[in-house]
Amino acid sequence: MSRKPIIAGNWKMNKTVKEAHEFVEAVKDKVPSPDIVDSVVAAPFVALDRIVADAKGSNLKIAAENVHFEESGAYTGEVSPVMLQDLGVDYVIIGHSERRAYFAETDDTVNKKVLAALAHHLLPIFCVGESLDEREGGRWQAVIKNQVTKAFAGVPADQAPSVVVAYEPIWAIGTGKSATAEIAEEVCHFIRETIAGLYGKDAAEKVRIQYGGSVKPANIKDFLAQADIDGGLVGGASLQPESFLALLDGAKA
Ligand code: 13P
Repeated sequence: MSRKPIIAGNWKMNKTVKEAHEFVEAVKDKVPSPDIVDSVVAAPFVALDRIVADAKGSNLKIAAENVHFEESGAYTGEVSPVMLQDLGVDYVIIGHSERRAYFAETDDTVNKKVLAALAHHLLPIFCVGESLDEREGGRWQAVIKNQVTKAFAGVPADQAPSVVVAYEPIWAIGTGKSATAEIAEEVCHFIRETIAGLYGKDAAEKVRIQYGGSVKPANIKDFLAQADIDGGLVGGASLQPESFLALLDGAKA
């Protein structure tokens, strides 16, 4: 089964609307065809309206970095899947470890958000990953299996392949210290087996799994060469147009 690579930049809390606009203008005509690679940038909410319009007609897809699971209501400060769908956003990152660590995101809210995103035709980029403690304590399998199983609860089999899973070991995020390609592959393979346990092998073979954590143009090819790694979720190295385009180049061959 050949799966199409997906490279997503996660800008996190970076870039004003003007800076986001300038980035998209700089890259949009150079983004490769979606026949070869799916190319995505995830931006703060305030920039989404502008850059969805900027990217229209190009090969660049736009993601939000979070979403609430309710359609509307008394949830001060939150943004609903209806609003993102209305803007024309394509993807949404769900359950990033920074949201789990700093904003009380739980496996339960992650699951609700995955279901809400799918219900509103937003493609989830759902993040999993173990801490250094969990890895060194030999608990990574249990942690990953639990995160994956809970996130997919209630997702119908025909929709499961639309979910992109991003494996981001917490110890490799923003540290400059990426996982080795072998470690990343071992975990991504384990994620695919876990999904096969839930939906069967055929569905699991269709799910795209990204690696994230200090990915850069210099190492993206090493990760993509692995059997179960289908893309990258990239923080720091996605902030500059040249670097983002170099990552997309790395996914071409
Ligand atoms: P870095 O690429 O900066 O390590 O960030 C990874 C990440 O968290 C992407 O979501």
